Amino acid sequence: MQRLRELADTARANAYAPYSHFPVGAALESADGRVFAGCNVENASYPAGTCAERVALGMAVAAGARAFTRVVITSQHHAPTPPCGICRQALVEFAPALEIHAVAPDGRAVRWSLAELLPAPFTPGSLENV
Ligand code: THU
Repeated sequence: MQRLRELADTARANAYAPYSHFPVGAALESADGRVFAGCNVENASYPAGTCAERVALGMAVAAGARAFTRVVITSQHHAPTPPCGICRQALVEFAPALEIHAVAPDGRAVRWSLAELLPAPFTPGSLENV
């Protein structure tokens, strides 16, 4: 957990968040023990911005990882930052049993399962027999 938190914080230091001023870092652990970090990358065309979790997921998939156990999310907000709905959907594709840990600057952490945060998900199986 501590290592994942540090990697998320290191990525967060590189966040590009000039519009929201809400930097976020994420460290995603793959089933084979590798860790992929990401930060949010905003854009002058606001909807083109991307969250830290999906940047980490893209890094992981590009490196060949396809299964994940945990993700740690850090921000500067006083309360732990949960993943947004789009990130929940992006993550469930690869990791329906993902553990999500959100850590606030004072170390307070909240843990959820992805199934708790995204009940009744739309998954690859949802496309079958249509
Ligand atoms: N953001 C993330 O990167 N991850 C989250 O879990 C929540 C929100 C980003 C998106 C945007 O750049 C900024 O935080 C404010 O919404």
